[in-house]
Amino acid sequence: MKGILLAGGEGTRLHPMTRVVSKQLLPVYDKPLVYYPLTTLMLAGVRDILIITRPRDAAAFAALLGDGSAWGLSLTYAVQPAPRGIAEALVLGRTFLAGGPSALVLGDNLFFGAGLGRNLGLVAARNPGATVFAYPVRDPSRYGVIALDAAGRPASLEEKPAQPRSSLAIPGLYFYDAQAPDLAAALAPSPRGELEISDVNRAYLDRGRLVVVPLGRGATWLDVGTPEALAQASAYVQTLQERQGLMIGSPEEVAYRLGLIDAEALARLAAPLAHNAYGRYLRDLLATP
Ligand code: DAU
Repeated sequence: MKGILLAGGEGTRLHPMTRVVSKQLLPVYDKPLVYYPLTTLMLAGVRDILIITRPRDAAAFAALLGDGSAWGLSLTYAVQPAPRGIAEALVLGRTFLAGGPSALVLGDNLFFGAGLGRNLGLVAARNPGATVFAYPVRDPSRYGVIALDAAGRPASLEEKPAQPRSSLAIPGLYFYDAQAPDLAAALAPSPRGELEISDVNRAYLDRGRLVVVPLGRGATWLDVGTPEALAQASAYVQTLQERQGLMIGSPEEVAYRLGLIDAEALARLAAPLAHNAYGRYLRDLLATP
């Protein structure tokens, strides 16, 4: 399965921070925001990833992430000329996907939780239809909202409803079969002028091909769209990392643990960072069984 990481958008809610720097390159505690969704895709078993950015940010993303080979990945790049909606990522990614299934992740979404990697791997392995997640939030009207029937099957799906039918938001991580680019290309822009990912998901729902996987209390999902959310995400990562001595969202560590790179390669990545905590953490991984 191939992956698409969507890291465009204007990030206006974060101005002036994002006037010249892409939102997804801002730090969340000790690493760029984009590392978190990137490692989520890696944990789901995705190795071949298209990164979509604004034209003016393309060089910065390429400088940061390269071709992915240092992390056992293949990273390629595309630009979205204007923020015409999340679903446009599937249209822009059509050639890259080459008629296969996809995992789409939003570049400002952070996932963390026990067994997340294994569970995502299971989801990624099942092919037909689409799979989305459902996560309880206090303010569902800011999100795509899914309501379930008594049997736990999806009953309705709406984007930013004024009167939400449930408290279940749909996080920005979606698994699709090969139909998704066609479904996205057939959409008309919404009243706010965007190709809505919720319309793609509703097309699957209407065909009886949408699977909803609940994410419970044990999972964390944060989306980093406002200064408050950015500060909270940084505090969350700092708190957990200091408490456990384990990093969240390090591509070097994930690549090493998944066997995408060997100890020698990890040592090479750690060496230039040896003077700081990130590099020492990577170096220490080599000493722990
Ligand atoms: O975070 C999950 C939510 O993301 C979902 O629950 C909603 O259904 C979905 O519509 C989306 O809502 P947001 O209001 O958070 O979307 P936003 O416009 O903030 O875009 C999310 C990310 O995608 C953001 O990092 C920018 C990027 N983006 C967005 C658009 C519209 C692009 O790269 N290109 C775009 O055209």
